[in-house]
Amino acid sequence: MDKVLVTGSTGIGGAVAAALGERAVTVGRSRADLSLLSETVRAAAEAPRRLDAIVCCAGVFSLRAETTAEGLERSFVLNYLSRFLLVRLLLPRLAPDGRVVLVAAAGRYPDTLGDARALRGGRGLRISGRTQFANDLFAVELAARYPGLAVSCVYPGLVATRVFRDAHGVPGPLRGILDAAQRRFGADPAVAAEVPVRLATGPRLPSGFYGPGGRPLPIPARVSAARRAELWAASEDLTSVSRCGVSR
Ligand SMILES: NC(=O)c1ccc[n+]([C@@H]2O[C@H](COP(=O)([O-])OP(=O)(O)OC[C@H]3O[C@@H](n4cnc5c(N)ncnc54)[C@H](OP(=O)(O)O)[C@@H]3O)[C@@H](O)[C@H]2O)c1
Repeated sequence: MDKVLVTGSTGIGGAVAAALGERAVTVGRSRADLSLLSETVRAAAEAPRRLDAIVCCAGVFSLRAETTAEGLERSFVLNYLSRFLLVRLLLPRLAPDGRVVLVAAAGRYPDTLGDARALRGGRGLRISGRTQFANDLFAVELAARYPGLAVSCVYPGLVATRVFRDAHGVPGPLRGILDAAQRRFGADPAVAAEVPVRLATGPRLPSGFYGPGGRPLPIPARVSAARRAELWAASEDLTSVSRCGVSR
């Protein structure tokens, strides 16, 4: 059995890594800032030579557009573009029948992506919403381009993690309410981790969208071939050699 790369070493990612034990190699903030493409490239270079699966959990909930030192919107990179780049860079190390699991929102957000090359990309809930929709597009397009892989996008439901406590751009009182509700009603991260762990290491399940408990979810029509192709092309541009400084 080869290793499983997990992004995020706390929250759902931490619970996934704990369930996988020694098989997991985690990439969290202490190893790389995945809101930067250059750091994502470094994390990929330092990954094990052979992988059975990649499980992407690192993310942030943000209502405020922020620009990184690389000139990109922070949450768009952390929640989506670094996932695209990491997976693309690691494809040669991934088993031909490997698994890619994207923990995001699996069809729950409308298409507020707009032009993926736009640096700011809207306001308020659109800031995070477009990153989640981008995961929807990426999951389906990756599965179409690499049919040997099993690619899933997972909506974990409400989970009692720090995601609202650490949210960006949410006014303090609202953040407190969201955090309290999440802690009171959210699932245990260890329970939420069961689905990504099963998809990454259990008997092979079809590529698709999965919800709490592993329930298959419908893929909305808005995850269209045209939007998928647009985002793929934009993502290739945004992660180009000139930006990341490394040839692929
Ligand atoms: N919790 C929920 O209710 C819920 C609901 C729907 C969807 N989701 C999705 O599930 C995913 C995981 O959420 P969560 O609840 O586990 O969130 P969380 O508790 O806030 O954890 C965020 C994770 O992202 C990592 N991270 C944050 N900034 C980073 C950076 N700059 N570079 C590298 N890693 C970074 C953190 O790793 P370190 O701590 O190691 O830095 C941590 O593991 C997210 O994509 C989120 O959108 C969560």
